[in-house]
Amino acid sequence: MTDTSAQPRVVIFDTTLRDGEQSPGATMTHEEKLEIAGLLDEMGVDVIEAGFPIASEGDFAAVSEIAKRAKNSTICGLSRANFKDIDRCWEAVKHAKSPRIHTFIGTSPLHRAIPNLTMDEMADRIHQTVTHARNLCDNVQWSAMDATRTEHDYLCRVVEIAIKAGATTINIPDTVGYTAPRESADLIRMLLERVPGADEVIFSTHCHNDLGMATANSLAAVEAGARQIECTINGLGERAGNAALEEVVMALKVRNDIMPFATGIDTTKIMHLSRRVATVSGFPVQFNKAIVGKNAFLHESGIHQDGVLKNVETFEIMRPETIGLTAKNIAMGKHSGRAALRAKMKELGVELGDNQLNDLFVRFKALADRKKEVYDDDLLALVSDSDTHE
Ligand code: KIV
Ligand code: ZN
Repeated sequence: MTDTSAQPRVVIFDTTLRDGEQSPGATMTHEEKLEIAGLLDEMGVDVIEAGFPIASEGDFAAVSEIAKRAKNSTICGLSRANFKDIDRCWEAVKHAKSPRIHTFIGTSPLHRAIPNLTMDEMADRIHQTVTHARNLCDNVQWSAMDATRTEHDYLCRVVEIAIKAGATTINIPDTVGYTAPRESADLIRMLLERVPGADEVIFSTHCHNDLGMATANSLAAVEAGARQIECTINGLGERAGNAALEEVVMALKVRNDIMPFATGIDTTKIMHLSRRVATVSGFPVQFNKAIVGKNAFLHESGIHQDGVLKNVETFEIMRPETIGLTAKNIAMGKHSGRAALRAKMKELGVELGDNQLNDLFVRFKALADRKKEVYDDDLLALVSDSDTHE
């Protein structure tokens, strides 16, 4: 196993309970939020964005309680760029051992038009609100919403203002999932080069998945110097979702040879969290979802099954145990071969001679033609059928 202790550390910021919960229909109860926050804390997530305290009494109560219970993680709440939001956020997160206020404003031309602020007025608002947040809390994150569609000169200007006003993390969101990996990297590099004081703060990436590039864009930003990734379990989030925690973390682990960055995540807890989030949010995980999909570690075709039975690395780039998955990696279906059937039967405690195997194989294929997947019980029933007929 690679020793990552000397590698630059990437802060994992989980926003399942805030951006994730913003998925239409993904509302979680108070108890469910506490449970998920507890699991994130145990898994080693550095920062948990627990909610948007001004949004509702329920959000406020959940953020406050999560802040009180957190053992290791920093607890963060979201607030718009006004004093009322920021004060409410502080009231909720202040109970944490390590609290963070996160305040944001949309900086692109389209977003500036909504509050109808000039560039100067917005710059002034950023200065005032970040200063206010910093007077309450030592740990302040400022986000330039829609940063990837903001003019570079203006983005540099407002990032500098936020840093001077006391922000300790600067988040550069790709709010509409519009950027691509090279552009994502160039943007972070440009900010690190041009903004005075940039080396004193942590730059963060927050990518949405509208074009299916959220994970790639987040990793590209890290390679360019970002040191915080914002993500959610199962990629839950607005529209097509956010970068998936399990994807960015496992990519950094499995391809640590070319992306030498460390995280504090205990990856063996991933599968359980994925299942709990799917259940409580009511958002099932697609079967072929990277890392946590039902099929992510399953092999059905005879050639693949034969390969993994001889040497698992032929078709597996990571072991299922690394994400806490103990289920078997062979799915019995019409593409499965004799070698897989023999191995499966052995696993079920049934040792077969060559003739018995051939006989079972014929009947298994006939069944597999009718059924999409043949389960362990089906196979055992086929065996006891042949016992009865002998
Ligand atoms: O996508 C986004 O821009 C956000 C911000 C509030 C950080 O979620
Ligand atoms: Zn977002």
